[in-house]
Amino acid sequence: MKEQYVLGIETSCDETAVAIVKNGKEIISNVVASQIESHKRFGGVVPEIASRHHVEQITIVLEEALEQARLSFQDISGIAVTAGPGLVGALLVGVETAKTLAYVHQLPLIPVHHIAGHIYANRLVTEMKFPLLALVVSGGHTELVLMKEHGDFQVIGETRDDAAGEAYDKVARTLNLPYPGGPHIDRLASEGEVTIELPRAWLEEGSYDFSFSGLKSAVINTVHNANQKGEVIEPANLAASFQASVVDVLVTKTMKAAQEYNVKQVIVAGGVAANKGLRARLDHVIRQLDHVELVVPPIHLCTDNAAMIAAAGSVFLEKGIHSNLTLNAYPGLDLMKFNEQSLII
Ligand code: KG4
Ligand code: ZN
Repeated sequence: MKEQYVLGIETSCDETAVAIVKNGKEIISNVVASQIESHKRFGGVVPEIASRHHVEQITIVLEEALEQARLSFQDISGIAVTAGPGLVGALLVGVETAKTLAYVHQLPLIPVHHIAGHIYANRLVTEMKFPLLALVVSGGHTELVLMKEHGDFQVIGETRDDAAGEAYDKVARTLNLPYPGGPHIDRLASEGEVTIELPRAWLEEGSYDFSFSGLKSAVINTVHNANQKGEVIEPANLAASFQASVVDVLVTKTMKAAQEYNVKQVIVAGGVAANKGLRARLDHVIRQLDHVELVVPPIHLCTDNAAMIAAAGSVFLEKGIHSNLTLNAYPGLDLMKFNEQSLII
């Protein structure tokens, strides 16, 4: 059988990334140019700056990915690109690059949903076993996704307000920590104790949805009240208390869904999957379930990268799902409608 090499492109937010993945599972090259330093002083991603950086970086990153892989376009089987969701101007840089490459080199163009990419980062670690449950926790998303086969995504729960990563970033801002705040809160949490009682939004019985805005407001209020009274709150204890609340809800709902849907694997995806507290607690809890395997990608595959996009793209390429050159960027692309949409576009 001929080897399949998919070149993936990711520009949905603040990383310009290109990677080449062999047969959907093996990373041949994985280049990420982060713009975090440029956005740090604004406390978050500035869309216009993000697009401009992508334009500057994309050809350099592309060349490096091919060079590291020691491959040319003659070896490539398809071009996978994040078509959404994300910042429209940022996405467009990747989509236009992918379309150009597909046209010039006469290769299939494969649109990939960013979250499908995060989920498929796990296939770079170990083979997927279905049915599986993916806990997707990133800066823009918090979702529980049930997969019965490759490329089939059923969202069984999602956040009704803030995403987990967004809550981390906002709490970090309240504590005057740099952007992105997740890793700083994670580190602080490991140095502190759970001393502050904070809410956990369980929502209605049986719901797999999440809500983090109440928790975020509770943290902000705790800090403001203490400041007004001239009291000192130990940031490490606040971080530990906040993290305990987030992890408790995420892990409890994941465990329940894993049991209800009788899954073979639980996989974790997205930037917050890098969280040490979440990883440790999931490991502890999932171990108690017989016949359920926990898969957590290494940290560099949890945050945005293009290897995950190429891995997801490989599956769609095999299924014959690709797009023509009218492909656009879709800032609000829906994971459940993704297959339909990618067939139409
Ligand atoms: O998946 P990602 O790289 O980008 C999006 O698609 O959103 O996720 C970025 C998010 C940020 O909110 C960041 O603070 C969070 O992931 N994050 C973490 C950790 N590392 C990154 N949150 C908690 N603990 C971490 N160790
Ligand atoms: Zn992401």
